[in-house]
Amino acid sequence: MASSMLPPRTAQIRLVSSHKEVYEPDDDSFALVDALLADRSNLLEHRPALCMEIGCGSGYVITSLALMLEQEGLDAFYIATDINPYALSVTHQTLEAHGVHAELINTNIAQGLENRLSGLVDVIVVNPPYVPTPEDEVGAEGITSSWAGGENGRSVIDRILPVADHLLSEKGWLYLVTLTANNPSEICLLMREKGYASRIVIQRSTEEESLHIIKFWRDFETKEDEEKKKAMADKSASTGIMEYLLGQLPQLPFWRSSDSNNY
Ligand SMILES: C[S@@+](CC[C@H](N)C(=O)[O-])C[C@H]1O[C@@H](n2cnc3c(N)ncnc32)[C@H](O)[C@@H]1O
Repeated sequence: MASSMLPPRTAQIRLVSSHKEVYEPDDDSFALVDALLADRSNLLEHRPALCMEIGCGSGYVITSLALMLEQEGLDAFYIATDINPYALSVTHQTLEAHGVHAELINTNIAQGLENRLSGLVDVIVVNPPYVPTPEDEVGAEGITSSWAGGENGRSVIDRILPVADHLLSEKGWLYLVTLTANNPSEICLLMREKGYASRIVIQRSTEEESLHIIKFWRDFETKEDEEKKKAMADKSASTGIMEYLLGQLPQLPFWRSSDSNNY
């Protein structure tokens, strides 16, 4: 059977370990992967060289993305971050169980990577902590950091958006999970001001919440934007993304599986 006729693959997370302090894939995780599957043909044409997940939790999303692209012979480089070290341990096992690889970094959003990866990431996926909570719960240790989103659930989202803007390549796409309470249309306006177009790839209401998976991409319309686009294209062309990333690896603050006994 031709590979394009095979059913799209997602991570079989039930076969993989979990941890009481790590977010288990739920409706929001499934909606995000469904959005990637719904956008699969565009992603295949997009041919991302570098994909990144911010807040990888169990690894279900980054593993599913890698499986989906690898099934079509796309050889991309994957990076996943999480503020919770236990999440990186579980993500490592999820990736390994499915025979795919990502560099795993224990950091706050993308701290320590922003300079090196500026303008180089072709796809960023984020299922952030989006539940409205008291501000002092944001960034708390362990499982609380999975959902605690502060006022209107926007504290972490509003910190992620400028970082994503900084990391995304000229052709970069961001897929973001939001809740109605997060005011998704205001998020789209904020991104519009940064030069991004957006569309809702999936809107899904569950018993508990109404989710929107929004895709953002740079919309170069004005002359000034065209100049920015040219400058970014020049940067990626002169860099040689794979060589550049491989050269950067020893300098990055990686989480290592050999550390997993500590968690
Ligand atoms: C809703 S969970 C999503 C987990 C996984 N991506 C999924 O879809 O199942 C949010 C994840 O973001 C992580 N997180 C929260 N704040 C973060 C931050 N400032 N930087 C990096 N990761 C963060 C949490 O530890 C958690 O794993």
